[in-house]
Amino acid sequence: MKTRKYLLPVAAAGVLALSLSACGGGGSSSGGGGGNSGGGDAAANMDGRGPITYVQGKDNSNVVRPLIEKWNAAHPNEKVTFKEQTDQADQQHDDLVQNFQAKNANYDVVSVDVVWTAEFAAKGWLQPLKDKMALDTSGMLKPTLDAASYKGTLYAAPESSDGGILYYRKDLVPTPPKTWDEMMSMCSIAKSNNMGCYAGQFSKYEGLTVNASEAINSAGGSVLDKDGKPSLTTDDAKAGLGNLAKAYADGNIPKEAITYKEEESRQAFQDGKLLFLRNWPYVYNLATTEGSSKVKDVLGMTALPGKSGPGASSLGGHSAGMSVYSKNKATALDFMKFLTTEETQKFFATQGSLAPVLTKLYDDKDLVAKLPYLPVLKTSIENAVPRPVTPFYPAVSKAIQDNAYSAIKGEKAVDAALSDMQKSIETQSK
Ligand code: GLC
Repeated sequence: MKTRKYLLPVAAAGVLALSLSACGGGGSSSGGGGGNSGGGDAAANMDGRGPITYVQGKDNSNVVRPLIEKWNAAHPNEKVTFKEQTDQADQQHDDLVQNFQAKNANYDVVSVDVVWTAEFAAKGWLQPLKDKMALDTSGMLKPTLDAASYKGTLYAAPESSDGGILYYRKDLVPTPPKTWDEMMSMCSIAKSNNMGCYAGQFSKYEGLTVNASEAINSAGGSVLDKDGKPSLTTDDAKAGLGNLAKAYADGNIPKEAITYKEEESRQAFQDGKLLFLRNWPYVYNLATTEGSSKVKDVLGMTALPGKSGPGASSLGGHSAGMSVYSKNKATALDFMKFLTTEETQKFFATQGSLAPVLTKLYDDKDLVAKLPYLPVLKTSIENAVPRPVTPFYPAVSKAIQDNAYSAIKGEKAVDAALSDMQKSIETQSK
């Protein structure tokens, strides 16, 4: 089982901050990791009010538009326009980087995946949320605050958290598995029902970094050790990635799952093609409300399986960051505050089954009555392991994705894939 040492606050303890020097490959942009070279003027336009744009990935659960309509009705002179990106994390990232590099004043408030905070903050693209621009963060889940901070400063407003959930078919699996081995032993049920057994997200993109890290963490390993150095050549890491490679080879993970991102895997599960699915909480709402869903009444949700008990999710989630290039920062800040109110957070939870960033909502009786999985989700998030915190995250993630992909497909031995991952991440620190 995952030890709790990685659950220490990242910003305070520096436990997970990857120990990289300032000259790694940091995606396409130039500039050091520590300074604000190339960044905009954080002191400018702080009192600016007027129309703004909010940029976010595909609104799978249709929560953003109704929320913006509500805001716009109350703020006719400070209307928000929604710029919707694709549903792929990597494309969302690249679009933001390009627009920050172009100093686009019209990307006022942007949705920042927890793994991009360090990079965007180090580049000087995000307005620090302090002093005049401070946000009331009392009552927010600590992991979401840590993930929105860099070097002790808050750079974005936590908007929704995310923790991995194991979805399963209650009609076919009376008692959900607690361990990976138990889950694999239940794959005979899938076979006799002519369906695939397990899938997560194994396409080569950020989702695979999430899934490969979870496999490693859940087997007792870790991507980084407690000093922030890569620790991928351990027996536990090998067992974790090995679990995915073996299941893919023997068919317990169906072959088509190598192309799955979140949405394809959700669709397969909703179509009745999978017994178990690893995915984020947003699936609950769509799987129980979409007319075509075959799992509406048989949807089970439990913790990800681990080695000898529950496993450890990768911490996911998004925060709303303000571009330093925005001309209307006062409006942007008000809109960010609006995203974090109790009312908005409840709306995200009930309409889209998104994970709230306010701790108390997980124990709110009315909400738990409507969303019975909230306690499972709270545990998932509290025990979740952050992905490496570094301004050079894209390069680190690529090393994990590329090697995990080859190992799962059987094109590279698990051992070799892990030591290549290790070397590649170490190279970033040279
Ligand atoms: C979800 C998570 C995010 C993660 C992404 C990977 O959107 O919230 O943190 O990086 O999935 O696809």
